[in-house]
Amino acid sequence: MSAQYSLRDERSAPQLAAKILAAFPASRVFALHGELGAGKTTLIKGFCAALGVHDQASSPTFAIVNEYRSDHGGPVYHFDLYRLKNAEELQGIGFTEYIDSGAYCFIEWPELAKEQLPDDALHVRLEVLPDGSRRITMHR
Ligand SMILES: Nc1ncnc2c1ncn2[C@@H]1O[C@H](COP(=O)(O)OP(=O)(O)OP(=O)(O)O)[C@@H](O)[C@H]1O
Ligand SMILES: [Mg+2]
Repeated sequence: MSAQYSLRDERSAPQLAAKILAAFPASRVFALHGELGAGKTTLIKGFCAALGVHDQASSPTFAIVNEYRSDHGGPVYHFDLYRLKNAEELQGIGFTEYIDSGAYCFIEWPELAKEQLPDDALHVRLEVLPDGSRRITMHR
């Protein structure tokens, strides 16, 4: 399974995010891959907007995980594993409990939790094209 999208600018992120959520209605765990500055946080802000999150979504600077409240249903979890030191640290925050909770989970730098991701996680790859737009490829 794979699907491709194009994101021209940041402003279109919520609209594209809504489209992706509708295309993958059963998916709850999203692993966002892409180099520094590829647009992972920006797309996650889009997902949050599409899910009716009121809190300002930002990169979890001091924490590995941020929890947001949404209009519809339960919480939304945003992980940034960039500063993760080792897998024990994941265990320390109860990573798998978040993942198994059934809530939406969006994960930046998911490579660092490869062993802990569920088999049905949706992988989202972001690439910066020469014109500055982002190519987004989804695969399981
Ligand atoms: N689709 C887009 N089109 C144009 N610019 C974008 C797009 N998405 C993000 N940007 C810009 O790219 C920069 C980096 O975006 P963002 O913080 O979302 O990247 P990131 O992948 O989360 O980076 P990091 O690896 O540091 O967490 C920001 O200045 C943002 O405005
Ligand atoms: Mg980021």
